[in-house]
Amino acid sequence: MLDILKEIEKTFRESLESITDEAALEAWRLANLGRSSPLMKAFSELSKLPKEERPSAGQMANQVKQALEAAFTEKSVVIKTQAMAKFLEGEKLDVTLPGRSFRHGRLHPATTNLRRILAILAEMGFQVYTARDVESDEYNFQLLNIPPYHPAREMQDTFYIDSKVDDETYSTVLRTHTSPGQIRAMREFAALDPENPPSIRVALPGMVYRFEQITTRSEMQFYQVEGLAVGENITFSDLKGTLTEFARRMFGQNARFRFRADHFPFTEPSAEMDVECFVCGGKGCPVCKKSGWLEILGCGMVHPQVLQNGGYNPRRYSGFAFGMGTERQLMLRYKINDIRNFWGNDIRFLEQF
Ligand code: PHE
Repeated sequence: MLDILKEIEKTFRESLESITDEAALEAWRLANLGRSSPLMKAFSELSKLPKEERPSAGQMANQVKQALEAAFTEKSVVIKTQAMAKFLEGEKLDVTLPGRSFRHGRLHPATTNLRRILAILAEMGFQVYTARDVESDEYNFQLLNIPPYHPAREMQDTFYIDSKVDDETYSTVLRTHTSPGQIRAMREFAALDPENPPSIRVALPGMVYRFEQITTRSEMQFYQVEGLAVGENITFSDLKGTLTEFARRMFGQNARFRFRADHFPFTEPSAEMDVECFVCGGKGCPVCKKSGWLEILGCGMVHPQVLQNGGYNPRRYSGFAFGMGTERQLMLRYKINDIRNFWGNDIRFLEQF
């Protein structure tokens, strides 16, 4: 028995010497340490030995097994190291090269700004109300006091979705502003209780479209955010207070603002709000065209006819509305001189934000 074990150890050690790859090593392990290997057979035959030989033979068998296992582990480390070295040589892998970093996606600057505006308005109690991009001529123009044939149509031209219904009008258009959402919001709220319509405070975000010559300053699409508040006893001072507070949160607590009289067919009276130029601090520079002021939004008291069109009795209710373009604010803030960057989809521009 002892001789057999010695023989096993000797021949197996020799056969291990000649192994050079992992597959052969695994085969060797199965043949020499596996269930049906001669060594394991020797173990099972121990019980057949005379009693007095058993302890020394058992000890010997265990020693051989441990020795073979140690030799196997040693050999497998050698083979793995060799295999890695060979692989590195073949691949010409330079482990000192810096790794490739992942490109992380991020929000479009216009989206970030839109969300910021909506977050501020939300803090002030304005809920988001989304309306449609494809509008009827009626909602986009007529219900906002811009009838067919009227010169007010010249302020905003759009893209027409279907053919003319009469000489002058088309029935379906891409909205030129978010203001048709005012009528949609009012009608939906008024329908809740036509006798006593609830008061409204909504922010209407979304893309708007204009049939314009595309230049560095005008695009055929851009974002707007509209605000609408309707209720009893709402006055022009509410409009001024709300917009001043909004603009402070948007442009900084120390920013200065002014309101200028203006005209929109769907508000009366109407105004334009300016912020003191944050590039030059009001001294006058190319960004503010030496005026010291930057125009940021249009606003006014909702026209009685528009309230009526929305289902709100103008004798009882009043309200204010405002609308702002979001890309314009970014252009002013970051001195972006070409509005086409926003929708031109050039990654070199977008990844700067
Ligand atoms: N809709 C106007 C525009 O696009 C902005 C505006 C909205 C003005 C609400 C007054 C009230 O120019």
